[in-house]
Amino acid sequence: MVTAYRGDVVFTPGPERFRAIEDGFVLVDDYGKVVDVVGSLTGQYADADIVDRSGNLIIPGFNDMHVHAPQYPQAGLGFDDELLPWLERYTFVDEAKYCDLAVADHWYRRFLTHLWQVGTLRFSAFATLHGDATWRLIQLAQESGLRPMIGKVNMDRNAPDNLLESTRQSLEDTETLIKRTAEDAPDVGFIVTPRFVPSTTPELMEGLGELVRRYRLPVQSHLDENRSEVEWVRKLHPDIPTYAQVYEHYGLMPRNRTIMAHCIWLTDAERELLKDRNVLLAHCAQSNLNLQSGIMPARRYLEQGLRLALGSDVAAGHEPDMNRHIVASVEASKALRFMPGHEGDQPLKLSEAFYMATKSGGSFFGRVGSFEPGYEFDALVIREDESLLELSVEERLERFLYAGASDAIRERYVSGHVVYRPFAGVPSAGR
Ligand code: GUN
Ligand code: FE
Repeated sequence: MVTAYRGDVVFTPGPERFRAIEDGFVLVDDYGKVVDVVGSLTGQYADADIVDRSGNLIIPGFNDMHVHAPQYPQAGLGFDDELLPWLERYTFVDEAKYCDLAVADHWYRRFLTHLWQVGTLRFSAFATLHGDATWRLIQLAQESGLRPMIGKVNMDRNAPDNLLESTRQSLEDTETLIKRTAEDAPDVGFIVTPRFVPSTTPELMEGLGELVRRYRLPVQSHLDENRSEVEWVRKLHPDIPTYAQVYEHYGLMPRNRTIMAHCIWLTDAERELLKDRNVLLAHCAQSNLNLQSGIMPARRYLEQGLRLALGSDVAAGHEPDMNRHIVASVEASKALRFMPGHEGDQPLKLSEAFYMATKSGGSFFGRVGSFEPGYEFDALVIREDESLLELSVEERLERFLYAGASDAIRERYVSGHVVYRPFAGVPSAGR
């Protein structure tokens, strides 16, 4: 059987432009996979079951490729600081509280509910170093109907005592979670998550690299975010020429399976390495402005063939809404043109930023983020506010991305199934 979702369909098969079908149908098979997008129901699909969402936009779900689940409660705090003091003053204090499972349970429910609310259906999240709290996040995510990757953070150096683990404990807890996730949380992927090079000793990185090889796992971390951070890595590893090569050296950059957040200050050698490994660069424009980290030269990276997606980086980004992060990436690319040497760079187009937040990020999960044949039907149904102007389908999406609120999202689908509000009694976000 085929189900036909009727509405105003918009998606980006490629980054150059939107594909919009006014009053069209997304045909979805019993496995939740897209069969086709058509303008009218004829021939073999004439008797398809119709889910009538006429007048609403139907777009792919959002994919947030870099987010810190435990930092959700601190969003909006501390942005007079840069990265390293911000970590010390807020983040490490916040994350240390997740030694308490009740804290983890409460705040992870709120986090997942907020992501559901804003239409983020898949994401790649850092938890904390705590094994029990991370397992709780994985269980709650499994229960939620969302489809994330989640990693226990590894950190055995350069943090306060109450947010450090021994190398051995870190590796043991990671391996336990790898097995548990595979056995008991089929809709969640485990992703190996060294916090960043300054947080992990060579012994720990080596052990994690071994786990990555043995279990064929993906990896996520931070790279070249802030200039003081880059300098620190150079001092910690004087024998390795660049920051990216430290991950590579320890087996933490598996081909096609690596996400590196930020990547603002890449050297030529690092760009070549990332390209060779087909690393997914998680561009976190809002975070990078909040912490004054810099502006990723996204246009140049795209021209060089790098693979770019978007991340909210909550809580260094202050809100999880991917429509806002799409806009932030466009705004940052416009601001970059005022910097010496970048005047000639074209800013990102909205379709390019939308592509990053849907199809490009989605590529990390398989065939996700588009409505081409064979893609998972991950979708948002959006009912917009009234308009004084006559708007095309594409303009309506544009208005939602810039000025819309998550209230407009009336339905969410993952792999062809509706995802309902995940937890009873959890308040909607709004502070
Ligand atoms: N680098 C190391 N840890 C973090 C973190 O929690 N957030 C960000 N933005 N960068 C980091
Ligand atoms: Fe981050």
